[in-house]
This record gives sequence, C-alpha cells and structure tokens, in this order.
Amino acid sequence: MHQFKRTLVTTALPYANGPVHLGHLAGVYLPADIYVRYKRLKGEDIIHIGGSDEHGVPITITAEREGISPQEVVDRYHSMNLAAFQKCAISFDYYGRTSSRVHHVTSQEFFSEIEQKGIFKKKTEQQFFDSKAGRFLSDRYVTGTCPVCGSLEANGDQCEQCGTHLSPLELINPKSKLSDATPELRETMHWYFPLGRFQSALEEYVTAHEEDWRPNVINYSRTWLKQGLNDRAITRDLGWGIKVPLDTAEASGKVLYVWFDAVLGYISFTREWAAELGRPELWKEYWQNPECRLVNFIGKDNVVFHTLMFPSILMAWNEGRQSGCYNLADNVPASEFMNFEGRKFSKSRNYAVYLGEFLEKFPADTLRYSIAMNYPENKDTDFSWQDFQNRTNGELADTLGNFIKRSVDFTNARFEGAVPYQCSDADWNSLGIDWKETLEQLDRAFEEYHFREAVTLGMDIARAANRFLTESEPWKVIKTDKDAAARTMALALNLCHVLSVALYPVIPETANSIHAMLGCTGGIEELIRRGDSLMTNLLHPTLHKDHRLRPNSEILFTKIEDADIAPELKKIEQLVAEAEKREAGAAQEQMEFKPEISFDDFQKVDLRVARVLSAEKVQKASKLLKLQLQIGPRTKQVLAGIALYYRPEELIGKNVILVANLAERKIRDELSQGMILAVEDSDGKLFVVEPAGDAKSGGQVQ
Ligand code: 2FM
Ligand code: ZN
Repeated sequence: MHQFKRTLVTTALPYANGPVHLGHLAGVYLPADIYVRYKRLKGEDIIHIGGSDEHGVPITITAEREGISPQEVVDRYHSMNLAAFQKCAISFDYYGRTSSRVHHVTSQEFFSEIEQKGIFKKKTEQQFFDSKAGRFLSDRYVTGTCPVCGSLEANGDQCEQCGTHLSPLELINPKSKLSDATPELRETMHWYFPLGRFQSALEEYVTAHEEDWRPNVINYSRTWLKQGLNDRAITRDLGWGIKVPLDTAEASGKVLYVWFDAVLGYISFTREWAAELGRPELWKEYWQNPECRLVNFIGKDNVVFHTLMFPSILMAWNEGRQSGCYNLADNVPASEFMNFEGRKFSKSRNYAVYLGEFLEKFPADTLRYSIAMNYPENKDTDFSWQDFQNRTNGELADTLGNFIKRSVDFTNARFEGAVPYQCSDADWNSLGIDWKETLEQLDRAFEEYHFREAVTLGMDIARAANRFLTESEPWKVIKTDKDAAARTMALALNLCHVLSVALYPVIPETANSIHAMLGCTGGIEELIRRGDSLMTNLLHPTLHKDHRLRPNSEILFTKIEDADIAPELKKIEQLVAEAEKREAGAAQEQMEFKPEISFDDFQKVDLRVARVLSAEKVQKASKLLKLQLQIGPRTKQVLAGIALYYRPEELIGKNVILVANLAERKIRDELSQGMILAVEDSDGKLFVVEPAGDAKSGGQVQ
C-alpha cells in the first residue's frame, strides 16, 4: 500500500440554497470529522477543507421564487450552514465559498488550460429558449411530462418520479419555469468535455481501487463506464456563475456548468487556507505532492462526479505536464442515505430536520453519537427520535456518563481527589481487555472508514469499564481493604482517560470535559498540538499515582425525557400528514382529466394493433426498451419505458396497441416513432395493453 505523509480530506460542498439537514450530516460531514479527528489524535498531518457551493440553477430558482438576488440567497445560507457546522463541532480547517475571487480564478485557469490543450469540443445544439423571458433555459428551468413514466412534473434534468436522467428536449409538453410559456428551440453553442477521451484511464483508476473503495462506489462508476462515456456540456447560458474566460462573442453570456466549478472548489479553498496561514505555496503539498492522500467524503448521489468527472478534469490538466500535476483521490467514501422516521429526507418537500434547529434543543455530542451509530455505510439507515432518546439515556448517560462520574466522585470523596495507586502494566492487562488487539481494531475501523464499528468498539470499552467498577464494589471494599479499593479506582480513572481519547473523534466536547474532570490541563486539542502520542499511550496506564483530579465533577449527559421529544414527534406527525396529503393531491391531480378534445381531435389519433418483432435494452437508459413493431406491411421503431417490468424476450410476438401517427422524437439518441399503450397496476408496475383475441397486425382500434 502507498505510504502517505499527509492527508487532505474534502467534504461535498452543500448548495447554499437551503439549510443542511441531519441526512447531510450523517452521510458526509460527521464521518469526515470523525476521520479527521482520529488522525489528528494519531499525530498525523491532515486538513479538512469544505465550503458552500454557491452557483447553479437551484440557487437562481430559489432567488427568483423569493424575489431576491442569488447573492442574497447564498449569503444567507452560507452563514447559516457554517454556524450550524460550528455548533456541531465539525472541525473544518477552512470553509470557503465558490463565489470567492480565488475560486473564480482557479476555475478559469482550469478552463483555459484545457481549452488551450484543445481538449474541449465546441458544439452547437438546439436548446429551449423562453422568448418571453428572453433567456435560454438550462436543465431545471424546463418542466414537462416524463417520456418514460408519464409524470407531469419531470424536470429538464431528471424525473423525480422514476429517477430517469433526462435532457430537456426529451420532455413531452415542455414548459418554461420562468414564464410558463412553451419554450422554442434555438441554436446555442457550448463547450463540451470529452469524457470518452479518458475512458480507459478512468477504467484503470477505478480498477486500481477495486479492493479499497466501497462496493457502491465501484458499482456506480462501473455502470457508467460500461455504458461508455460521452461528451458533457460544461458551460451554460446563465447570468449567475463563473464566466467563461474568453474575450469572444461566442463566450459572452456563458458561465461554467456548476459541477465543473464545484469540484474545483476543493482546490481553491485549500489555496485560500494556505494564503490565510501566510504560506501561500503550502496548498501544493496537499494537491500536487504524491505523498498526500486525498479523500473525498460524499453522498451516493455524487459518486460519478467524484470518481469520473473530477478525476478526468484533473487528468486533462495533468496531460503533458512534468510538474504541477494534481493527485487523484485515494478514496471516495460515499455514504448511502440516512432516512428519518422511515421516510427519505427531502428539502424540496420540507421533510427534514435541520441541523441548526436541532442543536438549539439538544447538545451536539448526543446527536453526533446517535448518528454515528446509524452511519449509513453500506445501506440506508433510519434516524428516529425514539432511537435518539434511547441511545442518549441508555448508552451515553447511564453507561458512559455514569461510569465517569462515579469514578471521579468516589476518588474525590474517598481518596482526596488524587489517583491513589500506581497501576502497572500487569494491572492494566488484568482488566480482561487485550489493549493491543483493541487498539488495532479501533485503528482499522477508523482508517477503513467503518465509523459505526469504531464507535461501537469505544462504547464496548465503556460497558466493560462500568461493569468492572460495579463488580469491584470499591464503596464496600474500602471498609475492609483500602489498598484494593485504591487499585480499583486507579484502574477506573485510567479507563476514564482511555474513553476520553477513544471517543474523542465522535464526542469531542464530552471527551474534553472528561479530560478536564480528570485534571488533565489544556484539553485534547492542546495535547495534539504538543505532539503527544495520545493513541499509542493507551497501551499503558497514563494517569500515575498522586495525579490530581479536578475537585468537582459534572453531569456529562442530561437524560432526554419523553416530554422533550413529544413536540418533535408531533411535528413529524404533521410533516407526514402533509406529505401524505401532497401525495394524495398528486394522485387526485392524476385523476383530473386532461382538457376536453373534440371528436375530430380524437379522430386524428391513429391507434393500431402492432406485433413486437424484436425488443432490446437501450444503452444508457436502464428503463427503456427498443421495440421493432410490425404494423401490417410497415415497421416502426418505438422506445418504451417498460424495461423494469419486462425482459425483452417476453415481449417478442406480443400484440400491442400503438399510437401510430405520433410525431417522431429522439430519446437517448434513438428514434422513437410512436408510443405503445400501457397501464399501471396498484404497485406502480407497467403492463402493455394487449388486444384480446387474435387481433390482426395493422388493424385499426375503433
Ligand atoms: O449535491 C450537492 O449538494 C452539490 N452541491 C455537491 C457538490 S460537491 C463538490 F463538487 F463540490
Ligand atoms: Zn419519469
């Protein structure tokens, strides 16, 4: 394995168009912070770089909806999210903004470098234009009917109902979100990044990490690679974003696509961090020195941007260079999703618990602990108020908090507040804990991004410690054998110390409180700065005889009463009721008939019996099947969104009903010359409508 000297951790930049919620914390920021804090404990050189993603259409849409400027939107949410992260003790070394000057310069440098190398392609394509608003409509500015599932509210980039990635041109009945107008097609030129050029290099890159990346990360990346990588437009016609750095007419009004600039934010912010330290060249040690390990923490929805797009941008920069080459990520720990009370978090549907609001009511460490215990490493998990209450009361208060307080209070009361005995290694090893093995297990868990396992191991030590104290009964033993009680307490206090270190990455504020109660001055961060080997020291008892504790203890965790979470449960009920109402409303909407048509209109629709001659899957469209149909003497090719419900061979020979005179359209670069009728069953599965009896191919449906 590669030996690294330092580590750069980045966390996905949240869009500054809304507050971060617990799902974001669980998937990205908390695991990253746990990892970073653990490595700091080991004395490693590591920095954590994050910040706000301040460009992109979600932000301009929020601004338009609220009647304010995009700048006001990002100012508001950048400060809000930064404050929430600080309150949650996410210890960023730097938290930047993609609206900064340095970031604009960095992104433009990348564009120019790749442009000068002739790697980009320029293509003129048709795009929707809202003539009322006088603007081209990119991605999410267009809505319409999904060509795959028929949802009436598909976005220009994706249909939320069926998940299909779309291009605006594939929507049926497209509408502009700006004015509700039906947009017209106009030609516009954009710069495209030829991902295909890096196909084999990316395949090699992903394969090299087959063993150390999570299976979900490998699988998502491989699915894209298998489909073959295409050119991706990396500019947009928008007024908000980073200008294309060319002084030509064709570049006017164009900005970089948000994903092109966002990933480069990691670099810009590291530059800003170094400049603020007064060592402006230091960022290169993290980005351009192969001795640095790069780790990108993200959620599963961002995988391909980090395993394919970002690396290929860096490869394009590195191409032909002898120096100043960028490192690619050594790992991209992508999480699954953490749901909330059994439902998906959704900012747009307002089904969420926001981090800042949560921390106004409950302490950060209780949240950090519960979430770490529910970390969605390999599968989606669920956060519930009940689980939060149980873990806080049972594990944090009753087990950990109680053990620490009993140890400190008893020593203060009966041993004049000082460690009453010098523990030997033999005493330390008599506890029934194999310290070497335990520390190795902990180390593996943290290093290999198994955070739930790491916290569980820490809590196992707390349980063992609590049991040891209870079973040793020093409060009884002291009456007859003070030396034995002294030995018990010295061991218990050393266990308190172990817990403060081992649980520091997850519950840093509590860890520091334990440290302070134990009379260790300066706090854990101070010891890290001094270069103490906090982790390796745990192999031996560290608190020596006569070490003085702080004379007063404190309650580390207040129990959460039913009354404390009752309003939250009520809120959930409301949110669920609202969500269900909305879902019912949507169903009702589906029941509303489309505007009336005349008999003549109906007569225009030519419905025919068609026989399926062949059926095959469509590359890059997992939901589509390509059908060749026989209609009497004629044949037509039709794309149908039924691949999830039929294997191609099941369809061959079936009679179906075809809208035979529908205008031709292109879906996924394939021609579709009609539509076949299908109905949904109660589970949402689609079935093609088959005429009963021995219908004649080409026969008219009357
Ligand atoms: O999905 C998102 O919220 C994006 N703003 C993440 C960007 S990650 C990186 F590229 F900056
Ligand atoms: Zn759909």
